Amino acid sequence: MSARARDFAARLGVAFPIVQAPMAGGPTTPALVAAVAEAGALGSIGAAMLGPRAIAEACAATRERTTRPFLVNLFVLPPASPSPAEVARALPRLAPFHEELGLPPPAIPNSWGEDLEAQVDAVLAARPAIVGTHFGPPPPRLLAGCRERGILVMSTATTPDEARALQATGVDAVVAQGAEAGGHRGTFLRPVGESLFGTMALVPAMVDAVRIPVIAAGGIMDGRGVAAALALGASAVQLGTAFLACPEAGTHPLHKAALASAGGTILTRGVTGRHARGLRNRLLVELDASAADAPDYLVQGALSGPLRAAAARQGRPELMAMWAGQGHAMARAEPAGEVVARLVREAGLQPA
Ligand SMILES: Cc1cc2nc3c(=O)[nH]c(=O)nc-3n(C[C@H](O)[C@H](O)[C@H](O)COP(=O)(O)O)c2cc1C
Repeated sequence: MSARARDFAARLGVAFPIVQAPMAGGPTTPALVAAVAEAGALGSIGAAMLGPRAIAEACAATRERTTRPFLVNLFVLPPASPSPAEVARALPRLAPFHEELGLPPPAIPNSWGEDLEAQVDAVLAARPAIVGTHFGPPPPRLLAGCRERGILVMSTATTPDEARALQATGVDAVVAQGAEAGGHRGTFLRPVGESLFGTMALVPAMVDAVRIPVIAAGGIMDGRGVAAALALGASAVQLGTAFLACPEAGTHPLHKAALASAGGTILTRGVTGRHARGLRNRLLVELDASAADAPDYLVQGALSGPLRAAAARQGRPELMAMWAGQGHAMARAEPAGEVVARLVREAGLQPA
């Protein structure tokens, strides 16, 4: 293991430079985060879709299971304010899915998403060892609050320019999210189409672009990927899809099952209004066809939420959004502690 990986693991307070990615929407349960932490890696709570009370509860439930450090991650986005015309145009595209699922016609929700200011308060009050942000740098109040409390901050970048911009705001580390990655692209400077670096190209370019540690993410599924990312100069690795099938993960059982059988992935903004990579199915194919006209993130995500939830309840995987990376077929249904132990063994890592 490189000196930079050992030093960074020590800074994070973990034995191994391995991060279980934050995954909003259910997968990153306290049981998963704690199992990863107990195995010597960094577990992360994906808190982007949790309100302040749920953030406090998730942190408390994690602390009941482990005394080790963990990360809490938020999406950094301005509040949504769609025009009525934009929303009116989006609803008819979702209506056929509602009909098929026996739901009332799509309607305007009470809210477009969680209030970031309230989430920031809850995260600072919970005082995790590490805070992460996706879709942009931490808001100044979050960064200042983390500084006061000695909380490390890491944010996602998808290009070397984004890494430089994050470094300039004062974050402690950047997550280099390659195009292979599952879930939403963290891109925030240029159009997504210009920001799709594969992990192999992105990690060394980012390592050369910034002084702060770079955490490699995207397509890393086993010890070969861990060793390759560290050889490219990463200070740590972050894996999401590799943990989705763990028994501790809150991933829907049909999503877990589909990881092995899906015919690849699709990157589309059609489901939520921001580009995200998920298992290829009918919902992603059909919504991708009208992706260019979909309203922005939060709005399209809130509008398509009820049909996705109904599909999950009714056991209809073809109409669920099952976010996953290109390495999905290599995800194993092993306990999270065994995933970490296997990565450590296969990559030949020594504890920091
Ligand atoms: C189901 C799912 C949900 C995700 N949610 C988040 C999130 O809430 N915050 C975040 O920073 N990244 C999120 N990501 C992206 C991960 O942080 C990471 O970039 C990605 O998982 C790495 O690629 P891999 O899936 O190939 O390991 C998510 C990924 C997946 C698969």
